[in-house]
This record gives sequence, structure tokens and C-alpha cells, in this order.
Amino acid sequence: MKITVIGAGAMGSLYGAKLSASPKNEVVLLDIWKEHVDAINACGLLLEEGGEPVRYGNLSASTDASLAGHADFAIIFVKSTVTKQAVLGNIGAFGPKTTAITLQNGLGNIDLISEVVGRENVLAGTTAQGAMVLGPGKVRHSGHGRTVIGELDGTKTTRIETVHEMLSEAGFETTISDNVVGLVWDKLLVNAGINALVGITGLFNGELLGYPELLEILELAVLEGKKVAESEGVKLGFPDPVSHALEVCAATAETKASMLQDVLNHRKTEIDMINGAIVRIGGRNGVETPVNRSLTNLIKFIEKHGMNFIEKHGEQIWKNE
Ligand code: PAF
Repeated sequence: MKITVIGAGAMGSLYGAKLSASPKNEVVLLDIWKEHVDAINACGLLLEEGGEPVRYGNLSASTDASLAGHADFAIIFVKSTVTKQAVLGNIGAFGPKTTAITLQNGLGNIDLISEVVGRENVLAGTTAQGAMVLGPGKVRHSGHGRTVIGELDGTKTTRIETVHEMLSEAGFETTISDNVVGLVWDKLLVNAGINALVGITGLFNGELLGYPELLEILELAVLEGKKVAESEGVKLGFPDPVSHALEVCAATAETKASMLQDVLNHRKTEIDMINGAIVRIGGRNGVETPVNRSLTNLIKFIEKHGMNFIEKHGEQIWKNE
């Protein structure tokens, strides 16, 4: 099976490395980060699991999709802020028989990918795994959770069974769902509860559980998201999405969530596709979302100004003392 991963950040590298362990798979990682690509091609991908580094050498990386050739499966793991541009930029990986799979965070990815490769060629899903990039060619597997995948129309096809088998063999606990839209919203509510809060506070996911004042915000953000999902007629997979978000915090306790990693690396975050999407859709459907709006605005402030003000004022206070 030829598997191309578009976006070899933490999650793309994790999935690519694990899939490459099977002799049945030929894995190529595509990314614009040249140092990471060069390190993987020179020494393989070093995946730290439970403190132990494991080297995955049976995979290659490239910045140029046309060199990689057509994939059987192209797994898209770029930030949802650049989904369409990444698919267009890596169009060389898509042939007439390529199936795209999105396991990304946020709303809108299925439609953006479908616009380029056709809806019939797209599978979707979610993952509750956690990973962080430690440096070029080095990634930590920092949290474990289920991967759920499905056909967009909910049918059970041979290709969804193939992907199920491929991911399960790679060691990812995987299930097939007939409700992909519900899945994406389930994950959206988890992200809406966790990501902005840790992006603002700098906490690891598990640390959130120790702060009742933050858990109150998490709960309110998730419940607003649930109301918005209901207003869209979405059938959520988890009837109690607050408990589900708390379970994900515990399962990925030692993970720096993707939004915190983005904030720390001064990158644009996925806030517009997570809490921002809840605000937009809520606005359209007449559902109030003040908590998600506040979280969105705070992250946007941090995206623009970082922690400059705290640093500046801290220095001023220190000088006046
Ligand atoms: O965005 C993330 O980091 C992940 O979706 C999750 C599940 C919140 C774990 O950190």
C-alpha cells in the first residue's frame, strides 16, 4: 500500500512512522519543513514512546509531491488553516485511484479537500492520539486514544475496511463509524474545550483537570458547542461531550495540545476552525456563544501580540521596585 502523509508535523509523523513499520506499506511524508525532511531521509524518524526512542527507517520524506508519485491513500494532517492550499500544492500525490483521508482538527476540511479531489475520493475521521515535535526528525508520542474513521455517506466499503486494517495493524485502536459528521463535531467539541484554554494558560492537557476555574470554562464552551451542533441537526456520537472532553484530557495528560504548540512557536492557530467555527455557526442559527467568542478573541490577541505585554509590564514592575 502506498501511503503518503501530507503534513509531517507531530501527528503526521506519528501516523507515518507507525504505518511504515509494516512491510506491506510504503510511506512517504510530505512537508515544507526542509530540516525535518532532510533529518528523516538521513537518519529515519525517531519516535519517543514512553521515554524510549524508537527509530523508524523504512520511510522517506520529501518537500516535493511530484517526486513521491501517486498514493493509494493520502492522509492529510496539515493544520486546517492551510488544508486547501496543501492539497493543491501536493496534487502530484493524487492519481485517479488515490483516496484522501482527513483526520485533522476543526470544521471544514472535508469540503475543502472534496473541492480539489472530489467528494467520492474522501474519507474522514478523528484521532485522540497526542504527539509533539521535539526537533527535526524527532517526535514524541505523548497520548493515546481512539482513531475513528468512516465513509462520508456512512456505508461500509472495502476501502474503509482496508484503512481500518492498515491503522489497526500499525497499532492505532481504530473503529469505523457510519456518522462521520457527528465524529467531526465530537472532536470539535473536545478541541473547543481544551485547545484554547491550554493555549492561553500554557498547561499540559492533564493539568487542566487540576483547576476547577478552568474546568468551568471548558464545560461552558463544550455545552455551547453542543447546542450549536444540535441547531445544525448533527447527531453527536458522545451524548455527554463534557465528560468525553475530560476523558481526552486524562488520556493525553502529558500532551501539549496543538494550539499550545502553535502559540509557543508563534504560528497561526486553528482557532477559526474550532471555537471560531462554533461562534460563526451559532450566529447563523441564533445560538448564543459568549464563552467560545471570548476564547476565540483571547487566542487571536495572543496570535497578534504573544506574551509581549506580560513581558513588558513585568519588566516595568521589576524596574520600579
Ligand atoms: O489538538 C490536539 O492537540 C488534540 O486534538 C487533542 C485531542 C486536544 C490532544 O491534545
